[in-house]
Amino acid sequence: MIERINDYLKEVEAFSSTSSQEIEAFRVSFAGKKGILNDLFASFREVPAEEKKAYGQQLNKLKEAVAEKIKELQSQTQSSAGINKISDPTRTAFPIQSGNRHPLSVVKNRIVDIFTQIGFSISEGPEIEDDWHNFTALNLPEHHPARDMQDTFFIQTDPDILLRTHTSSVQVRHMETHQPPIRTISPGRVFRNEAISSRAHCIFHQVEGLYIAKDVSFADLKQTLKYFTEALFGNSKIRLRPSYFPFTEPSAEVDIYWGLETEIDYRITKGTGWLEIMGCGMVDPNVLKNCGIDPEVYSGFAFGMGIERIAMLLYQVSDIRLFFENDVRFLKQFKPTL
Ligand code: PHE
Repeated sequence: MIERINDYLKEVEAFSSTSSQEIEAFRVSFAGKKGILNDLFASFREVPAEEKKAYGQQLNKLKEAVAEKIKELQSQTQSSAGINKISDPTRTAFPIQSGNRHPLSVVKNRIVDIFTQIGFSISEGPEIEDDWHNFTALNLPEHHPARDMQDTFFIQTDPDILLRTHTSSVQVRHMETHQPPIRTISPGRVFRNEAISSRAHCIFHQVEGLYIAKDVSFADLKQTLKYFTEALFGNSKIRLRPSYFPFTEPSAEVDIYWGLETEIDYRITKGTGWLEIMGCGMVDPNVLKNCGIDPEVYSGFAFGMGIERIAMLLYQVSDIRLFFENDVRFLKQFKPTL
C-alpha cells in the first residue's frame, strides 16, 4: 500500500501546469472531498498494524506535497496573469490624473460667458496683423505719437506686418464686414515688446468688447460695465477716470472698489481702495468712418481688459509670470469653475 502512496508522490512532483483549470482539476482529484487523499486516509484502517506508522508518515508527506504543489502553481499563474494584465492594451493608464483648465482659460471663459449671455457674439482674428487693422483704422495714423503707447513687435522683413498689440484689430475687421447693430467681444492673445516683470509680460491675453447701434450713450457703457463687474467680482462699485485712447472719445479707465479691510487689500490697492481693471470709451467717429459705418447715424462704445490682470485679482496671484511657466504645482490648484 505504501507503494501506491509513493507512486502518487512521484505523480504530484511531476505535475506542472499554467492552466488554472488544470490546476483546479489536480486539486479536486487529490484534495477534493472524494479525492485520493481522503480515499487513502479512509484506507488507514485496513493497513496492518506494523505498517501503520510508515503508512501514516508517507500519507502526510503526500498531503503536504499536494498542498505545496497547488500553492506553487497558483502563485505562478496569478503573477503571470498580472503580467498579462499590464500588457493589455485596453487597460486604462495608471495612475489616472485628471487635468484641469489653465487659470487664464477659466477666467477667459467666465468673461466670455458673461457677455454672451447678454447677446454679445465672439469674434476672432489673426495674431499677425497689418498696420491698418492694428493702428491706422483705429485713428492712429503713421507717426502718431500714441503708437509708442504700445511697444510693437514688427516683422522685420515687412514694416507693414506686426504682431497685434491689442484685439481692437479684430473689432476693426468685424466692423468692416458687419453693419450695426454690432455686439461682439474679441478674446485673444496679444504681444507687446515690454520688459518682463512681475506685472508685465510680452505675450498676454485680452478680451475687448464693442457695441454699436443707434443712440448708444456713455450711460449704456457704464451700465454694461456695472453688470459685468457684478457678475464677475460680485461687486458693481466702479468708477470711471478720464483717460486717453486714440480710438475712443471720451475715454476712461475703469477702477473697481477693492476695499481696504485687510493689510493685503491695502497693499494691492496702494492704500486707495481702488484698482484699475480696464480701458473704455465711446468709439471715435473717425474709427467708425474708417470701417465703413456712418457716425452720423450710429454711435458705440468699446472696452478692453487684460485677462492676466483680472486673473491675478480673482486668484490673488502676485506675479504674472506664474501663468506662463506651466509649473503643474501652480496650475493644478485651479478648479475648473470659479
Ligand atoms: N485697446 C486698448 C488697449 O489694448 C484697450 C481699450 C479698448 C481701450 C477699447 C478703450 C477701448 O490698451
